[in-house]
Amino acid sequence: MRTLLERVKEGGLPRHVAVIMDGNGRWAKAHGLSRTSGHQAGALAAERLIRFVGSKLELPYLTLFAFSSENWARPQSEVAFLMDLLTDFIRTRLAELVDAGVQLRVIGDRERIPSALRDQVADGIAATADGERLHLTIALSYGGRQELAAAARRIASDVVAGKIRPGDVDETAVADRLETAGMPDPDLVIRTSGEERLSNFLLWQSAYAELCFTDVLWPDFVPAEFLRCLAAYQRRRRRFGLVEGMET
Ligand code: IPE
Ligand code: IPE
Ligand code: MG
Repeated sequence: MRTLLERVKEGGLPRHVAVIMDGNGRWAKAHGLSRTSGHQAGALAAERLIRFVGSKLELPYLTLFAFSSENWARPQSEVAFLMDLLTDFIRTRLAELVDAGVQLRVIGDRERIPSALRDQVADGIAATADGERLHLTIALSYGGRQELAAAARRIASDVVAGKIRPGDVDETAVADRLETAGMPDPDLVIRTSGEERLSNFLLWQSAYAELCFTDVLWPDFVPAEFLRCLAAYQRRRRRFGLVEGMET
């Protein structure tokens, strides 16, 4: 019998999968642990997924939502723990990411993150710049509305500078000024932990993404679960506003 992996590989993979990694706190609670232990377990789940995608699938773009603009309002101790965890995550996995052909990108408001993490992000991006196998984007201090507001500011500046006329501001002009410029839009957005919302993630880019919601809490998200989402995606009919049969 063919394995789920084989079937998914034959079914045609999306180009870009984005994941809202949710449920670390509830996982910790269910195991009688602190929220920070939940985040540690969540980091291991992220590592496992990156390794799996990088080694087993021809999936060129993977984006992970690690920390939202709104997450800054969490207790200061949890925020500090997450910033240290992210710094360690990039630092300790960097050699493996380079070996695996990963190209790292980080989207989100970098001004707000502590300088140690900012420096680590810069190092990680520089060290992985030649990676061609997997474009890994980490959304960190990221919010879709904030990103759109920043794009609007850039457009306004470009109009004032005479680089673009107001009447020429079209979808491409906006997309080119988002942090995801040059990346394909996500074909599939996965959210764990049973919540069925976007929580300000890739609002513009997900306009036509398929959505996969799973009850699994993020630390328990194993590769088989990822494959089940891909299999569900392969059963969908994406119409992009057209009528059945026209879209290909
Ligand atoms: C996701 O897990 C990680 C971050 C948002 C940083 P949560 O911390 O949101 O876990 P729950 O939703 O409280 O279970
Ligand atoms: C979304 O999860 C952000 C990340 C996974 C990083 P949240 O736990 O912050 O979202 P809400 O509060 O349930 O909407
Ligand atoms: Mg949550």
